[in-house]
Amino acid sequence: MRNGNRVQGERTARLRAGYNTTPDPAVIARNQAQQRQHNDKAKLILNPLLDRLQPYPFEKLRALFSGVKTPDLPAIRLSIGEPQHATPDLIFKAMTEAFSGLAVYPTTAGSDELRQTIAGWIARRYALPEIDWATQVLPVNGSREALFSFAQAVLDASRPAPLVVCPNPFYQIYEGAAFLGGAQPVFLNQTPENNFGFDWESLSEAEWARVQLLFVCSPGNPTGRVMSLDEWRELFALSDKYGFVIASDECYSEIYFDEANPPLGALEAAHKLGRKGFPRLVVFSSLSKRSNVPGLRSGFVAGDAKVLAGFLKYRTYHGCAMSVTVQAASIAAWKDETHVQANRAMYREKFDALVPMLSPVLGVSRPDAGFYLWAKTAGDDTAFARDLLAATHVTVLPGQYLAREAHGRNPGQGFIRIALVASRQECLTAAQRIVGHLK
Ligand SMILES: Cc1ncc(COP(=O)(O)O)c(C=O)c1O
Repeated sequence: MRNGNRVQGERTARLRAGYNTTPDPAVIARNQAQQRQHNDKAKLILNPLLDRLQPYPFEKLRALFSGVKTPDLPAIRLSIGEPQHATPDLIFKAMTEAFSGLAVYPTTAGSDELRQTIAGWIARRYALPEIDWATQVLPVNGSREALFSFAQAVLDASRPAPLVVCPNPFYQIYEGAAFLGGAQPVFLNQTPENNFGFDWESLSEAEWARVQLLFVCSPGNPTGRVMSLDEWRELFALSDKYGFVIASDECYSEIYFDEANPPLGALEAAHKLGRKGFPRLVVFSSLSKRSNVPGLRSGFVAGDAKVLAGFLKYRTYHGCAMSVTVQAASIAAWKDETHVQANRAMYREKFDALVPMLSPVLGVSRPDAGFYLWAKTAGDDTAFARDLLAATHVTVLPGQYLAREAHGRNPGQGFIRIALVASRQECLTAAQRIVGHLK
Protein backbone atom coordinates (compact mmCIF):
# COMPACT_ATOMS: atom_id res chain seq x y z
CA MET A 1 0.00 0.00 0.00
CA ARG A 2 2.78 2.34 1.12
CA ASN A 3 4.64 1.36 -2.07
CA GLY A 4 1.50 2.14 -4.08
CA ASN A 5 1.29 5.58 -2.51
CA ARG A 6 4.93 6.24 -3.36
CA VAL A 7 4.40 5.22 -7.04
CA GLN A 8 1.34 7.41 -7.23
CA GLY A 9 3.25 10.30 -5.64
CA GLU A 10 6.12 9.99 -8.10
CA ARG A 11 3.68 9.91 -10.97
CA THR A 12 1.87 13.00 -9.78
CA ALA A 13 5.20 14.81 -9.40
CA ARG A 14 6.24 13.81 -12.93
CA LEU A 15 2.90 14.92 -14.31
CA ARG A 16 3.19 18.27 -12.47
CA ALA A 17 6.65 18.66 -13.96
CA GLY A 18 5.06 18.25 -17.39
CA TYR A 19 6.68 14.92 -18.20
CA ASN A 20 4.83 12.33 -20.14
CA THR A 21 4.31 9.29 -17.96
CA THR A 22 3.77 5.56 -18.11
CA PRO A 23 0.16 4.46 -17.54
CA ASP A 24 -0.98 4.20 -13.95
CA PRO A 25 -0.88 0.47 -12.98
CA ALA A 26 -3.99 0.97 -10.85
CA VAL A 27 -5.80 2.39 -13.85
CA ILE A 28 -4.60 -0.51 -16.01
CA ALA A 29 -5.81 -2.99 -13.41
CA ARG A 30 -9.17 -1.21 -13.18
CA ASN A 31 -9.55 -1.13 -16.99
CA GLN A 32 -8.68 -4.78 -17.26
CA ALA A 33 -11.26 -5.68 -14.62
CA GLN A 34 -13.85 -3.59 -16.48
CA GLN A 35 -12.92 -5.27 -19.75
CA ARG A 36 -13.29 -8.72 -18.18
CA GLN A 37 -16.66 -7.75 -16.78
CA HIS A 38 -17.68 -6.41 -20.18
CA ASN A 39 -16.55 -9.61 -21.90
CA ASP A 40 -18.50 -11.72 -19.43
CA LYS A 41 -21.54 -9.56 -19.97
CA ALA A 42 -21.06 -9.70 -23.75
CA LYS A 43 -21.20 -13.49 -23.56
CA LEU A 44 -24.37 -13.31 -21.51
CA ILE A 45 -26.17 -10.95 -23.81
CA LEU A 46 -25.68 -13.09 -26.92
CA ASN A 47 -29.08 -14.56 -27.66
CA PRO A 48 -29.03 -18.08 -26.16
CA LEU A 49 -31.69 -19.17 -28.66
CA LEU A 50 -28.93 -19.10 -31.30
CA ASP A 51 -27.60 -22.31 -29.76
CA ARG A 52 -30.78 -24.09 -30.79
CA LEU A 53 -30.16 -23.57 -34.51
CA GLN A 54 -29.11 -26.76 -36.26
CA PRO A 55 -26.33 -26.87 -38.85
CA TYR A 56 -27.72 -26.44 -42.34
CA PRO A 57 -28.21 -29.66 -44.41
CA PHE A 58 -25.32 -28.70 -46.67
CA GLU A 59 -22.91 -28.47 -43.73
CA LYS A 60 -23.96 -31.99 -42.77
CA LEU A 61 -23.43 -33.05 -46.37
CA ARG A 62 -19.91 -31.62 -46.41
CA ALA A 63 -19.07 -33.61 -43.28
CA LEU A 64 -20.63 -36.78 -44.76
CA PHE A 65 -18.64 -36.46 -47.97
CA SER A 66 -15.31 -35.49 -46.44
CA GLY A 67 -12.60 -37.97 -47.37
CA VAL A 68 -14.72 -39.72 -50.03
CA LYS A 69 -12.56 -40.63 -53.06
CA THR A 70 -14.45 -39.74 -56.22
CA PRO A 71 -13.95 -41.33 -59.66
CA ASP A 72 -12.31 -39.37 -62.44
CA LEU A 73 -15.60 -38.16 -63.93
CA PRO A 74 -17.00 -34.63 -64.11
CA ALA A 75 -18.85 -33.82 -60.86
CA ILE A 76 -22.64 -33.43 -61.15
CA ARG A 77 -24.37 -31.71 -58.27
CA LEU A 78 -28.04 -32.56 -57.81
CA SER A 79 -28.04 -31.92 -54.08
CA ILE A 80 -28.79 -28.20 -53.93
CA GLY A 81 -32.08 -26.67 -55.06
CA GLU A 82 -30.42 -23.77 -56.81
CA PRO A 83 -31.88 -23.09 -60.26
CA GLN A 84 -29.26 -23.27 -63.00
CA HIS A 85 -31.23 -22.27 -66.09
CA ALA A 86 -30.17 -18.95 -67.61
CA THR A 87 -31.59 -15.70 -66.25
CA PRO A 88 -33.81 -14.11 -68.93
CA ASP A 89 -32.37 -11.09 -70.76
CA LEU A 90 -35.42 -8.96 -70.01
CA ILE A 91 -34.49 -9.04 -66.32
CA PHE A 92 -30.88 -8.02 -66.99
CA LYS A 93 -32.14 -5.23 -69.22
CA ALA A 94 -34.65 -3.89 -66.72
CA MET A 95 -32.03 -4.01 -64.01
CA THR A 96 -29.32 -2.21 -65.93
CA GLU A 97 -31.78 0.48 -67.00
CA ALA A 98 -32.62 1.07 -63.35
CA PHE A 99 -29.13 1.43 -61.90
CA SER A 100 -29.93 5.04 -60.97
CA GLY A 101 -32.19 3.52 -58.33
CA LEU A 102 -29.07 2.76 -56.31
CA ALA A 103 -28.90 6.45 -55.43
CA VAL A 104 -32.08 6.43 -53.35
CA TYR A 105 -33.32 4.76 -50.21
CA PRO A 106 -36.21 2.43 -51.05
CA THR A 107 -39.38 2.34 -48.96
CA THR A 108 -40.15 -0.83 -47.01
CA ALA A 109 -43.54 -1.21 -48.65
CA GLY A 110 -42.02 -0.96 -52.14
CA SER A 111 -43.28 1.23 -54.98
CA ASP A 112 -46.95 1.37 -55.88
CA GLU A 113 -46.01 0.10 -59.33
CA LEU A 114 -44.33 -3.00 -57.94
CA ARG A 115 -47.23 -3.83 -55.64
CA GLN A 116 -49.76 -3.20 -58.40
CA THR A 117 -47.77 -5.46 -60.72
CA ILE A 118 -47.62 -8.23 -58.12
CA ALA A 119 -51.33 -7.87 -57.32
CA GLY A 120 -52.08 -8.09 -61.04
CA TRP A 121 -50.00 -11.24 -61.33
CA ILE A 122 -51.73 -12.83 -58.33
CA ALA A 123 -55.17 -12.00 -59.71
CA ARG A 124 -54.32 -13.53 -63.11
CA ARG A 125 -52.51 -16.57 -61.78
CA TYR A 126 -55.10 -17.49 -59.15
CA ALA A 127 -58.24 -16.13 -60.83
CA LEU A 128 -58.96 -13.80 -57.92
CA PRO A 129 -61.56 -11.10 -58.53
CA GLU A 130 -59.82 -8.79 -56.09
CA ILE A 131 -56.63 -8.38 -54.18
CA ASP A 132 -55.82 -4.97 -52.73
CA TRP A 133 -52.28 -4.03 -53.78
CA ALA A 134 -52.08 -1.34 -51.09
CA THR A 135 -52.85 -3.53 -48.07
CA GLN A 136 -52.65 -7.18 -49.12
CA VAL A 137 -49.26 -7.29 -50.88
CA LEU A 138 -45.68 -6.58 -49.76
CA PRO A 139 -42.39 -7.13 -51.59
CA VAL A 140 -39.74 -9.20 -49.79
CA ASN A 141 -36.10 -9.97 -50.48
CA GLY A 142 -36.73 -13.58 -51.41
CA SER A 143 -39.04 -15.89 -49.55
CA ARG A 144 -36.35 -17.15 -47.18
CA GLU A 145 -35.84 -13.85 -45.36
CA ALA A 146 -39.61 -13.33 -45.31
CA LEU A 147 -40.39 -16.78 -43.89
CA PHE A 148 -37.89 -16.14 -41.13
CA SER A 149 -38.80 -12.56 -40.28
CA PHE A 150 -42.53 -13.25 -40.51
CA ALA A 151 -42.35 -15.57 -37.52
CA GLN A 152 -40.60 -12.85 -35.50
CA ALA A 153 -43.49 -10.49 -36.26
CA VAL A 154 -46.26 -13.03 -35.59
CA LEU A 155 -45.13 -15.00 -32.54
CA ASP A 156 -46.11 -13.89 -29.05
CA ALA A 157 -43.57 -15.55 -26.78
CA SER A 158 -45.29 -14.10 -23.70
CA ARG A 159 -48.18 -16.51 -24.16
CA PRO A 160 -47.62 -19.92 -22.56
CA ALA A 161 -45.51 -22.45 -24.47
CA PRO A 162 -46.07 -21.26 -28.05
CA LEU A 163 -45.89 -23.87 -30.82
CA VAL A 164 -45.09 -23.54 -34.51
CA VAL A 165 -46.26 -26.41 -36.73
CA CYS A 166 -43.90 -27.49 -39.52
CA PRO A 167 -44.24 -30.21 -42.13
CA ASN A 168 -41.60 -32.91 -41.80
CA PRO A 169 -39.47 -33.11 -44.00
CA PHE A 170 -39.32 -29.35 -44.38
CA TYR A 171 -37.36 -26.23 -45.26
CA GLN A 172 -35.09 -25.64 -42.29
CA ILE A 173 -35.80 -21.92 -42.06
CA TYR A 174 -39.22 -22.68 -40.48
CA GLU A 175 -37.57 -24.36 -37.52
CA GLY A 176 -35.01 -21.58 -36.97
CA ALA A 177 -37.74 -18.95 -37.25
CA ALA A 178 -39.74 -20.75 -34.57
CA PHE A 179 -36.79 -21.02 -32.18
CA LEU A 180 -35.71 -17.42 -32.52
CA GLY A 181 -39.29 -16.29 -32.06
CA GLY A 182 -39.28 -18.01 -28.68
CA ALA A 183 -41.51 -20.90 -29.79
CA GLN A 184 -41.10 -24.64 -30.08
CA PRO A 185 -41.44 -26.29 -33.50
CA VAL A 186 -43.72 -29.34 -33.70
CA PHE A 187 -43.65 -31.61 -36.70
CA LEU A 188 -46.31 -33.29 -38.81
CA ASN A 189 -44.70 -36.23 -40.59
CA GLN A 190 -45.29 -36.51 -44.34
CA THR A 191 -44.75 -40.11 -45.35
CA PRO A 192 -45.76 -42.56 -48.08
CA GLU A 193 -48.38 -43.91 -45.64
CA ASN A 194 -50.24 -40.58 -45.58
CA ASN A 195 -49.46 -39.86 -49.23
CA PHE A 196 -47.08 -37.10 -48.04
CA GLY A 197 -50.03 -35.17 -46.66
CA PHE A 198 -50.84 -33.96 -43.16
CA ASP A 199 -52.20 -36.00 -40.25
CA TRP A 200 -53.80 -33.15 -38.35
CA GLU A 201 -54.83 -35.63 -35.64
CA SER A 202 -51.21 -36.31 -34.73
CA LEU A 203 -51.39 -33.17 -32.56
CA SER A 204 -53.59 -33.21 -29.46
CA GLU A 205 -56.32 -30.66 -28.77
CA ALA A 206 -54.10 -29.13 -26.06
CA GLU A 207 -51.21 -28.79 -28.53
CA TRP A 208 -53.39 -27.17 -31.21
CA ALA A 209 -54.51 -24.64 -28.60
CA ARG A 210 -50.87 -23.55 -28.20
CA VAL A 211 -50.16 -23.26 -31.95
CA GLN A 212 -49.55 -19.66 -33.05
CA LEU A 213 -48.13 -20.23 -36.51
CA LEU A 214 -48.25 -23.07 -39.03
CA PHE A 215 -46.00 -23.44 -42.07
CA VAL A 216 -47.07 -25.33 -45.14
CA CYS A 217 -45.10 -25.77 -48.34
CA SER A 218 -47.11 -26.40 -51.49
CA PRO A 219 -45.75 -27.48 -53.93
CA GLY A 220 -43.64 -29.14 -51.29
CA ASN A 221 -39.92 -29.23 -50.91
CA PRO A 222 -38.83 -32.05 -51.10
CA THR A 223 -41.91 -34.10 -52.09
CA GLY A 224 -43.35 -31.80 -54.77
CA ARG A 225 -46.81 -32.50 -53.42
CA VAL A 226 -49.56 -29.91 -53.96
CA MET A 227 -52.24 -29.45 -51.29
CA SER A 228 -55.80 -30.11 -52.41
CA LEU A 229 -58.83 -27.89 -51.82
CA ASP A 230 -60.12 -30.38 -49.23
CA GLU A 231 -56.88 -30.13 -47.29
CA TRP A 232 -57.11 -26.34 -47.36
CA ARG A 233 -60.69 -26.56 -46.10
CA GLU A 234 -59.53 -28.65 -43.14
CA LEU A 235 -56.61 -26.36 -42.43
CA PHE A 236 -58.69 -23.18 -42.58
CA ALA A 237 -61.17 -24.79 -40.16
CA LEU A 238 -58.33 -25.50 -37.72
CA SER A 239 -57.03 -21.96 -38.05
CA ASP A 240 -60.54 -20.57 -37.42
CA LYS A 241 -60.92 -22.79 -34.37
CA TYR A 242 -57.53 -22.16 -32.76
CA GLY A 243 -56.64 -18.73 -34.15
CA PHE A 244 -53.18 -19.50 -35.56
CA VAL A 245 -51.66 -17.81 -38.60
CA ILE A 246 -50.93 -19.89 -41.72
CA ALA A 247 -47.69 -19.18 -43.63
CA SER A 248 -48.00 -20.83 -47.03
CA ASP A 249 -44.62 -21.22 -48.74
CA GLU A 250 -45.32 -21.33 -52.48
CA CYS A 251 -41.91 -20.60 -53.95
CA TYR A 252 -42.19 -23.61 -56.32
CA SER A 253 -45.67 -22.65 -57.56
CA GLU A 254 -44.51 -21.88 -61.11
CA ILE A 255 -42.60 -25.11 -61.74
CA TYR A 256 -45.27 -27.55 -62.93
CA PHE A 257 -45.91 -29.91 -65.82
CA ASP A 258 -49.39 -29.32 -67.22
CA GLU A 259 -49.80 -25.80 -68.59
CA ALA A 260 -53.56 -26.14 -68.22
CA ASN A 261 -53.32 -27.18 -64.56
CA PRO A 262 -51.18 -24.93 -62.42
CA PRO A 263 -50.90 -25.87 -58.74
CA LEU A 264 -53.64 -24.61 -56.46
CA GLY A 265 -52.47 -21.69 -54.31
CA ALA A 266 -53.62 -20.85 -50.79
CA LEU A 267 -55.21 -17.51 -51.77
CA GLU A 268 -57.04 -19.28 -54.57
CA ALA A 269 -58.22 -22.00 -52.18
CA ALA A 270 -59.43 -19.36 -49.70
CA HIS A 271 -61.33 -17.59 -52.44
CA LYS A 272 -62.87 -20.83 -53.74
CA LEU A 273 -64.01 -21.61 -50.22
CA GLY A 274 -65.68 -18.22 -49.91
CA ARG A 275 -63.31 -16.74 -47.35
CA LYS A 276 -63.25 -12.95 -47.52
CA GLY A 277 -60.03 -11.06 -46.79
CA PHE A 278 -57.84 -14.19 -46.38
CA PRO A 279 -58.17 -14.29 -42.57
CA ARG A 280 -54.90 -15.32 -40.84
CA LEU A 281 -53.42 -16.44 -44.16
CA VAL A 282 -50.21 -15.16 -45.77
CA VAL A 283 -48.55 -16.70 -48.84
CA PHE A 284 -44.86 -16.46 -49.71
CA SER A 285 -43.81 -16.38 -53.34
CA SER A 286 -40.54 -15.80 -55.11
CA LEU A 287 -38.90 -15.05 -58.44
CA SER A 288 -35.88 -17.24 -57.63
CA LYS A 289 -37.23 -20.43 -59.18
CA ARG A 290 -39.89 -18.94 -61.43
CA SER A 291 -37.49 -16.63 -63.25
CA ASN A 292 -34.08 -18.18 -62.50
CA VAL A 293 -32.88 -15.27 -60.38
CA PRO A 294 -31.92 -16.73 -57.00
CA GLY A 295 -29.36 -13.94 -56.68
CA LEU A 296 -31.89 -11.15 -57.23
CA ARG A 297 -33.49 -11.80 -53.83
CA SER A 298 -37.01 -10.91 -54.82
CA GLY A 299 -40.39 -12.23 -53.84
CA PHE A 300 -43.62 -11.15 -52.20
CA VAL A 301 -46.00 -11.92 -49.39
CA ALA A 302 -49.75 -11.55 -49.84
CA GLY A 303 -52.85 -12.16 -47.78
CA ASP A 304 -54.50 -10.93 -44.58
CA ALA A 305 -54.16 -7.11 -44.49
CA LYS A 306 -54.05 -6.95 -40.68
CA VAL A 307 -51.26 -9.48 -40.45
CA LEU A 308 -49.36 -7.71 -43.23
CA ALA A 309 -49.73 -4.33 -41.47
CA GLY A 310 -47.94 -5.83 -38.45
CA PHE A 311 -45.34 -7.43 -40.69
CA LEU A 312 -44.73 -4.11 -42.48
CA LYS A 313 -44.18 -2.40 -39.13
CA TYR A 314 -41.67 -5.10 -38.17
CA ARG A 315 -39.91 -4.84 -41.52
CA THR A 316 -39.53 -1.06 -41.21
CA TYR A 317 -37.32 -1.66 -38.19
CA HIS A 318 -35.74 -4.82 -39.59
CA GLY A 319 -34.48 -2.68 -42.50
CA CYS A 320 -35.14 -5.00 -45.40
CA ALA A 321 -36.54 -2.69 -48.04
CA MET A 322 -36.03 -3.90 -51.62
CA SER A 323 -33.62 -1.83 -53.71
CA VAL A 324 -35.36 0.28 -56.34
CA THR A 325 -33.10 -1.33 -58.95
CA VAL A 326 -34.25 -4.80 -57.89
CA GLN A 327 -37.85 -3.57 -57.86
CA ALA A 328 -37.53 -2.55 -61.53
CA ALA A 329 -36.13 -5.96 -62.48
CA SER A 330 -38.91 -7.63 -60.49
CA ILE A 331 -41.64 -5.64 -62.22
CA ALA A 332 -40.29 -6.78 -65.59
CA ALA A 333 -40.14 -10.40 -64.40
CA TRP A 334 -43.67 -10.53 -62.93
CA LYS A 335 -45.10 -8.96 -66.11
CA ASP A 336 -43.69 -11.64 -68.40
CA GLU A 337 -44.89 -15.25 -68.63
CA THR A 338 -43.07 -16.31 -71.80
CA HIS A 339 -39.77 -16.98 -70.03
CA VAL A 340 -41.62 -18.84 -67.26
CA GLN A 341 -43.27 -21.16 -69.78
CA ALA A 342 -39.90 -21.78 -71.43
CA ASN A 343 -38.42 -22.53 -68.01
CA ARG A 344 -41.20 -25.04 -67.27
CA ALA A 345 -40.64 -26.69 -70.65
CA MET A 346 -36.99 -27.31 -69.74
CA TYR A 347 -37.94 -28.95 -66.42
CA ARG A 348 -40.68 -30.99 -68.13
CA GLU A 349 -38.15 -32.35 -70.65
CA LYS A 350 -35.82 -33.38 -67.83
CA PHE A 351 -38.55 -35.14 -65.85
CA ASP A 352 -39.85 -36.84 -69.02
CA ALA A 353 -36.38 -38.19 -69.73
CA LEU A 354 -35.28 -39.09 -66.20
CA VAL A 355 -38.38 -40.55 -64.55
CA PRO A 356 -38.57 -43.60 -66.90
CA MET A 357 -34.82 -44.17 -66.43
CA LEU A 358 -34.84 -43.91 -62.65
CA SER A 359 -38.17 -45.46 -61.75
CA PRO A 360 -36.98 -49.08 -62.24
CA VAL A 361 -34.04 -48.54 -59.86
CA LEU A 362 -35.40 -45.92 -57.45
CA GLY A 363 -39.18 -46.26 -57.76
CA VAL A 364 -39.63 -42.56 -58.53
CA SER A 365 -42.61 -41.01 -60.26
CA ARG A 366 -43.20 -37.48 -61.51
CA PRO A 367 -44.16 -35.20 -58.61
CA ASP A 368 -47.21 -32.89 -58.69
CA ALA A 369 -44.84 -29.93 -59.20
CA GLY A 370 -41.41 -28.52 -58.33
CA PHE A 371 -38.01 -29.69 -59.52
CA TYR A 372 -37.18 -32.48 -57.07
CA LEU A 373 -37.41 -36.24 -57.13
CA TRP A 374 -37.98 -37.66 -53.65
CA ALA A 375 -36.65 -41.17 -54.04
CA LYS A 376 -36.72 -44.11 -51.68
CA THR A 377 -33.39 -45.82 -51.04
CA ALA A 378 -33.07 -49.48 -50.20
CA GLY A 379 -31.02 -48.81 -47.06
CA ASP A 380 -29.71 -45.86 -45.09
CA ASP A 381 -29.90 -42.64 -47.10
CA THR A 382 -26.58 -41.21 -45.89
CA ALA A 383 -24.73 -44.42 -46.84
CA PHE A 384 -26.56 -44.37 -50.19
CA ALA A 385 -25.48 -40.78 -50.93
CA ARG A 386 -21.87 -41.46 -49.92
CA ASP A 387 -21.62 -44.65 -51.97
CA LEU A 388 -23.22 -42.93 -54.95
CA LEU A 389 -20.69 -40.11 -54.77
CA ALA A 390 -17.79 -42.58 -54.48
CA ALA A 391 -19.02 -44.61 -57.46
CA THR A 392 -20.37 -41.91 -59.78
CA HIS A 393 -19.30 -38.40 -58.68
CA VAL A 394 -23.01 -37.47 -58.50
CA THR A 395 -24.19 -35.60 -55.41
CA VAL A 396 -27.68 -36.02 -53.93
CA LEU A 397 -29.04 -34.98 -50.54
CA PRO A 398 -29.88 -37.59 -47.86
CA GLY A 399 -33.51 -37.16 -46.84
CA GLN A 400 -32.84 -37.37 -43.12
CA TYR A 401 -30.99 -34.04 -43.30
CA LEU A 402 -34.27 -32.40 -44.33
CA ALA A 403 -36.33 -33.85 -41.48
CA ARG A 404 -36.40 -34.26 -37.70
CA GLU A 405 -37.12 -37.23 -35.51
CA ALA A 406 -40.82 -36.91 -34.63
CA HIS A 407 -43.58 -39.33 -33.65
CA GLY A 408 -40.91 -42.03 -33.26
CA ARG A 409 -39.14 -41.69 -36.60
CA ASN A 410 -37.26 -39.45 -38.99
CA PRO A 411 -39.53 -39.39 -42.06
CA GLY A 412 -36.66 -38.37 -44.33
CA GLN A 413 -34.65 -41.46 -43.40
CA GLY A 414 -34.49 -43.86 -46.35
CA PHE A 415 -35.05 -41.13 -48.95
CA ILE A 416 -32.82 -38.97 -51.09
CA ARG A 417 -33.65 -35.67 -52.74
CA ILE A 418 -32.52 -35.29 -56.35
CA ALA A 419 -32.73 -31.71 -57.66
CA LEU A 420 -33.08 -31.61 -61.44
CA VAL A 421 -31.47 -28.21 -61.65
CA ALA A 422 -28.44 -28.95 -63.83
CA SER A 423 -28.63 -28.91 -67.63
CA ARG A 424 -30.63 -31.62 -69.40
CA GLN A 425 -27.42 -33.27 -70.59
CA GLU A 426 -25.89 -33.29 -67.11
CA CYS A 427 -29.11 -34.67 -65.60
CA LEU A 428 -29.17 -37.42 -68.24
CA THR A 429 -25.53 -38.29 -67.58
CA ALA A 430 -26.20 -38.35 -63.84
CA ALA A 431 -29.20 -40.65 -64.34
CA GLN A 432 -27.12 -43.02 -66.51
CA ARG A 433 -24.46 -43.16 -63.84
CA ILE A 434 -27.04 -43.77 -61.08
CA VAL A 435 -28.68 -46.57 -63.10
CA GLY A 436 -25.27 -48.14 -63.78
CA HIS A 437 -24.37 -47.95 -60.09
CA LEU A 438 -27.64 -49.48 -58.85
CA LYS A 439 -28.01 -52.28 -61.41
C1 LIG B 1 -39.22 -24.55 -49.60
C2 LIG B 1 -38.41 -23.33 -49.84
N1 LIG B 1 -38.87 -22.16 -49.38
C3 LIG B 1 -38.18 -21.02 -49.58
C4 LIG B 1 -36.97 -21.02 -50.24
C5 LIG B 1 -36.23 -19.73 -50.37
O1 LIG B 1 -36.15 -19.26 -51.66
P1 LIG B 1 -35.88 -17.75 -52.00
O2 LIG B 1 -35.44 -17.09 -50.72
O3 LIG B 1 -34.84 -17.74 -53.02
O4 LIG B 1 -37.18 -17.18 -52.46
C6 LIG B 1 -36.45 -22.22 -50.73
C7 LIG B 1 -35.14 -22.24 -51.41
O5 LIG B 1 -34.61 -23.20 -51.83
C8 LIG B 1 -37.20 -23.41 -50.52
O6 LIG B 1 -36.76 -24.59 -50.97
